[in-house]
Amino acid sequence: MEPPTLADVLDTQRLLAPYLPPTPTWNYPALDAAAGATVFVKHENTQPTGAFKVRGGIALLSRLDPAERERGVVGYSTGNHAQSLAYAARLFGVPCTIVMPEHPNPAKADAVRRLGAELVEHGATFDDAAPYARALADERGMRLVSAANEPAIIAGVATAYTELFAQQPHLDAVVVPVGSGSGAAAACLVASALAPQCEVIAVQAADSPAAHDSWRSGELLRRPNRTAVEGLATGSGFALPQRVLRERLADFVLVDDDQIAAAQWCLLRDAHTLAEGAGAAALAVVLADPDRFAGRRVAVVCTGGNASEAEILRCSSPGTRTITAAPALALSRPS
Ligand SMILES: Cc1ncc(COP(=O)(O)O)c(C=O)c1O
Repeated sequence: MEPPTLADVLDTQRLLAPYLPPTPTWNYPALDAAAGATVFVKHENTQPTGAFKVRGGIALLSRLDPAERERGVVGYSTGNHAQSLAYAARLFGVPCTIVMPEHPNPAKADAVRRLGAELVEHGATFDDAAPYARALADERGMRLVSAANEPAIIAGVATAYTELFAQQPHLDAVVVPVGSGSGAAAACLVASALAPQCEVIAVQAADSPAAHDSWRSGELLRRPNRTAVEGLATGSGFALPQRVLRERLADFVLVDDDQIAAAQWCLLRDAHTLAEGAGAAALAVVLADPDRFAGRRVAVVCTGGNASEAEILRCSSPGTRTITAAPALALSRPS
């Protein structure tokens, strides 16, 4: 399995154009003041499903052959890859079954059902849902869609970065949140071609460090998966994105769930933006390490806005509304 080329990404950009308009990238003076840097927010929260993943779902499903379309697809997800597949499946008339871990974010589960997909809840985490989805796909003869070991999905989500570098060509850094790594790998592929001066920095939750540890060690590792931040909650590294990250990623940082909640609050207060936790993780990196980003032009990708009610209440509670600069937990590239 090979990662997509820039030509594949540009081709996918043409393919997605009738379905998804470009998302905006905005700068907010209040956010700059909080961060001590020039911060550009790439607003993937404005996608029709509320998250960047929909780019990948449409890219993949539009390329299925007629027999695959008829048999349908199975996906496993904490909710945004799920909505992406359900949205694209409705668009192209493809049967779609989604396996989510038990007790999912109700907003995401409802959205999947409303898009017409079958929803099955199984297991405690993303990593328990995955083998169940595989078994279901085998049993039903449907195509299993991985969250990240899919070149078409990476090409789809990479279109967020062709847009970003056209909107802001002179970035010093872009920070991308990671669960499986499809988005960060996509950012690396596009930055290599269009913005070689721009550092790509990945971030995962400290309580679910599998992608981070896999990148640092150069091996695909399994790790405990305990973060409450859906989207960043994966328990093992994915081969295809890790391969790309190894070649081009400048750094991989961990932040904890409280730092992420504080960044959610900051986006709400200073950028009028409701982000889910994963969508605020990139900003959490900038807030955690002001010296590193001082005076620089940095893009943070607000990858999603599908916060549950409980999450919205938590991030706006008095305890969370203090943004403190604390060192992010890991800051250097492995040798
Ligand atoms: C909002 C959000 N941000 C970031 C991610 C992580 O993306 P990836 O799995 O491509 O690393 C996800 C994954 O579901 C997500 O839903």
